[in-house]
Amino acid sequence: MKFMGNGVLVSGSNTISISEEVCRTSKIPMIEKIVRRFPDGEIYVRFSDVNFKEKNVYIIHSMAPRQNDSLIELFLSVDVIREYSPRKINLIAPYMAYARQHKKYNIGEALSLRTIIKILKILGVSEITTIDAHFCRREGTFNFFGMKIQNLTAAPLIFEYIKRESGIKDFVVVGVDAGSRDFLSKIRSKKVFLRKEKYCPICNKKAIKCECKTRKKSYKIVIKGFEKVKNKNVMILDDIISTGGTMSACALAVKKVARSVYIGCTHGLFLGRALDILKENCDLIVSTNTIKSKASKVSIAPLIKKVIR
Ligand code: R5P
Repeated sequence: MKFMGNGVLVSGSNTISISEEVCRTSKIPMIEKIVRRFPDGEIYVRFSDVNFKEKNVYIIHSMAPRQNDSLIELFLSVDVIREYSPRKINLIAPYMAYARQHKKYNIGEALSLRTIIKILKILGVSEITTIDAHFCRREGTFNFFGMKIQNLTAAPLIFEYIKRESGIKDFVVVGVDAGSRDFLSKIRSKKVFLRKEKYCPICNKKAIKCECKTRKKSYKIVIKGFEKVKNKNVMILDDIISTGGTMSACALAVKKVARSVYIGCTHGLFLGRALDILKENCDLIVSTNTIKSKASKVSIAPLIKKVIR
């Protein structure tokens, strides 16, 4: 089957396998991009073909890791494409870097997500499609800092993958906190939402009431509500695992009472030893391939395919 649309695809160097899968299934042509590094670490980008004129250009580009290098590669790519008069530049960013810095918490701090969106807009990106972005929470179309952002969710794909792999049909899906309600809203299964409370290790008061000036990292995480999953097959799902602190605390609590513990997330950053530690505390851990790792077993290509015309 031939691709009938007016689109061409461009891949970020972090997303080549996703782009190839999308290419294979949608038959959209992909334009080859060469990315190299100068001896001092600076990035070089060149397209072997610049036939972008009047085309809908889809750039599939995950901004991780390393986030900053990946962003520069993206900025350089968009700027070249814009030079050759495309009809529209659609960025598909399975993982949006700086997504957790979309609000100002202190006077004088950078609103990082706004800065990135501003640059992409100036360079010529007309809209962004992303997956389980922290600042959107739920699936839908949003406007952030003047940019149209379509947020898709991978939660049902992860849920189905774990069900298939485990052969278990009666999962109780656990959200790590009340904030997970939107993330899990597309999953049809019994759900339990845990409560994550943080305590100061010095005064033992709740973090919000503590005046010890303890570093946030040192707060003790206490999980409440895990008793509800006694003797159940549990699947703990979250949008992102970064240091693994939240997920480890939840898995350890749930493990005390549950029959089995499966873990899934959309974005597996798995910093430091996070993946090894989590593996020790569950039956299986998987993420999607928005970020490549040993756990990235669930492909988000089927979600992206629906966006490409
Ligand atoms: C929080 O709102 C998120 O959904 C994740 O639970 C959190 O960002 C995970 O971070 P970490 O792995 O560092 O605990």
